[in-house]
Amino acid sequence: MSDSAKERVRNEAQGSDSHHAKRSLELVNKPDFHVFYNAGTLIVICNKFQGPFGKADCWLAAENLMLAACAKGLGTCVIGFAVSALNTPEWKAELKIPAEMTAVAPIIVGVPASETPPVPRKPPEIVAWK
Ligand SMILES: Cc1cc2nc3c(=O)[nH]c(=O)nc-3n(C[C@H](O)[C@H](O)[C@H](O)COP(=O)(O)O)c2cc1C
Repeated sequence: MSDSAKERVRNEAQGSDSHHAKRSLELVNKPDFHVFYNAGTLIVICNKFQGPFGKADCWLAAENLMLAACAKGLGTCVIGFAVSALNTPEWKAELKIPAEMTAVAPIIVGVPASETPPVPRKPPEIVAWK
């Protein structure tokens, strides 16, 4: 699954000049880069609702899931690299995702290999203050 996701990211990023595409290519071209970091569990939050907020709901659920996992001492990571591959008919069939659903938020869950050091808080970007 990791190799198949890497292949798709490679094809999609090739030819693009964006910083994101270049960084993605750098990663997926590394033979030992595993898209899912060899995590034991992948949870894929899917959308089945038409309308403007279906995807937003999925991301809200994703955040809740990640906070709940953290509270239990588990580690999580959103795997955006897998979204495109997850929505192919082959992957949907393999993972039993109904054709009418869209995979939105893939999240790996596992036991952290080590303690996660705190990261510095980024300054907020306030665009207007009235
Ligand atoms: C939409 C989205 C997609 C992401 N996809 C990936 C991914 O494919 N692989 C990965 O290692 N991290 C992925 N991440 C995690 C980010 O790289 C980063 O670790 C996380 O957002 C925490 O960022 P911060 O340290 O700047 O707060 C993703 C995060 C988001 C929000």
